[in-house]
Formats: sequence, C-alpha cells, structure tokens
Amino acid sequence: MRSRVPLAVTTSGKPEDSLVARAREAARAWGLPFIPRRKKQPIGPLLESTAEAFITFEREGVSLWDKEGSFSFNPGMAHLRRLRILSGQEGDDALVRVAELRAGDHFLDCTLGLGQDALVAALVAGPSGRVVGLEKSLALYAVVSEGLAAYDYGPESCRVEPVHVDADAYLRSLPSGSFDVVFFDPMFEKPRKSQPAFEMLRRFAEHAPLTSETLAEARRVARRWVVVKGSKYSDDLKKLGIEAEPGSRYTSVIWGRVPAASSG
Ligand SMILES: C[S@@+](CC[C@H](N)C(=O)[O-])C[C@H]1O[C@@H](n2cnc3c(N)ncnc32)[C@H](O)[C@@H]1O
Repeated sequence: MRSRVPLAVTTSGKPEDSLVARAREAARAWGLPFIPRRKKQPIGPLLESTAEAFITFEREGVSLWDKEGSFSFNPGMAHLRRLRILSGQEGDDALVRVAELRAGDHFLDCTLGLGQDALVAALVAGPSGRVVGLEKSLALYAVVSEGLAAYDYGPESCRVEPVHVDADAYLRSLPSGSFDVVFFDPMFEKPRKSQPAFEMLRRFAEHAPLTSETLAEARRVARRWVVVKGSKYSDDLKKLGIEAEPGSRYTSVIWGRVPAASSG
C-alpha cells in the first residue's frame, strides 16, 4: 500500500475553477501537495488512501479534515468578547485586564491557536495598534489564517497578522522592545475534556511547553509585560517561577504576568 502524506490541500466535491486556482496557489505557498477532487468525490476514501489530513477549500471557507472529524475557523467566543468590549465592559475580559491592553498597543501572540485571544487584542489595540499571531502548526495556521483573512474586523479594530513560525525562532529575530505585550497560551500539560474544535486543535497543535529560555526572549522583546495563560490543574506557570494573578474562583484558567526585561 502507498503511504499517505501527513497533510495535503484539496477542494470541496463541487469545485469552481476559481476555487481550484485558490487552493492550488495556497498549496504552493504552504509547500503542501494539491490533490484534485472530482465532482461529488467523498473525502473519506481520500483520507484512507492519500493523506492523513486535508485542508479543504470550500465556497464557505477553509476547513481541516481528518478521520475523526473536521474543523473550520469560528470566531464564536471571541465575537462575544468583542461585543462585550464594544459595550464598555473591557474590564471583564481577563486578557485585557491582566495585559492592561489599550488603544495603540503592539501585541505579539506567540500561540495563535484558534485566534480568539488575538481577535480580542485586535479590538482593544484598535486601528492604530498592531497584533501579530504566531502559529507553529501548519494545519492550524492554514485554517485560521484563511479564516482571519475573511473576518469582518470593523472600523474599531486592527487586523490580526498571522505568521507560520516557531515562537522562539521569531522572538530571537526581533529587536528588543518591539512589542508592548508578548502573550503565551501554551497547550495545557493535563488535557481536560473540551469542545470538538479544541479536540481537533489538540490533535494538530504543538504541545511543547513554554521554556524559561523562550520566556527570557519574550521579556527582552516586550516593552511592558509578558502575559502567560495557564491551567489551575497544571503547574506549568509555577515551573517557570510565575505567580498567578488573583482571579475568579470559578474558572480553570489562571493568568501570570512578568515585567519586561527593560522595566524597572
Ligand atoms: C491553547 S492554543 C492557543 C489558543 C488561543 N489563545 C486562542 O485564543 O485561540 C496553543 C496554540 O499555540 C501553538 N503553539 C504552541 N507552541 C508554539 C510555538 N512554539 N510557536 C508557535 N505556536 C505554538 C499550538 O500549536 C496551538 O495552536
């Protein structure tokens, strides 16, 4: 039996020529094989024979498929958080509060994931600000960067600029003091049961924990803080010597904040 490639690009089973052209171009840019799909050809057999996972271009957007299921970009919770901020309740958002985010901020999200925190930062940073989101997993980067490109940001927000890169390598390439806030939301050490989109994220994500060397680079690059999100049920923050900020008793998420290397 021929071995399958880990990841490839295809289209829906009813592709228009323009969609095929977009998918081919994206496959070339991402360095992935493009597998043409015949009219009405189901994806199941292709997942058995050709690739372990597919990035699929459909009229409605771009999604990621494997044998367990599919995932497409969904601003869901970020949209609700953005609505709350637009109605003046930004103090309720833990990211905004802990990072002390404000208009004009340059925010570096080192763990873009589903792009939810980055979208919130983009609204608070506003049109004069900047948000760059780094993602190491090519599959997640492909789906989320296409979703973010089609997202309607509105006039109050800057756009999120996604980059497919390892955060440590990117930080090392930056001059000191390049971003007001550098943010990490690494995969938790101990997985908890979560929504299907997060299960898919978990299968494709980079799982290596944040190291003290990368944290030191982030402190060099930050002008104000490095903010780290963690879980109450893991000691990832403690291992880095980061004290959790006081927060709600009712959530499993904890937040830590470390001053920039240049501060004080
Ligand atoms: C828990 S998710 C982040 C979720 C995100 N905060 C959101 O709001 O959707 C962690 C993400 O960071 C990515 N990641 C982990 N280590 C990375 C690294 N060294 N460089 C870039 N991305 C990384 C993972 O692949 C995963 O997509």
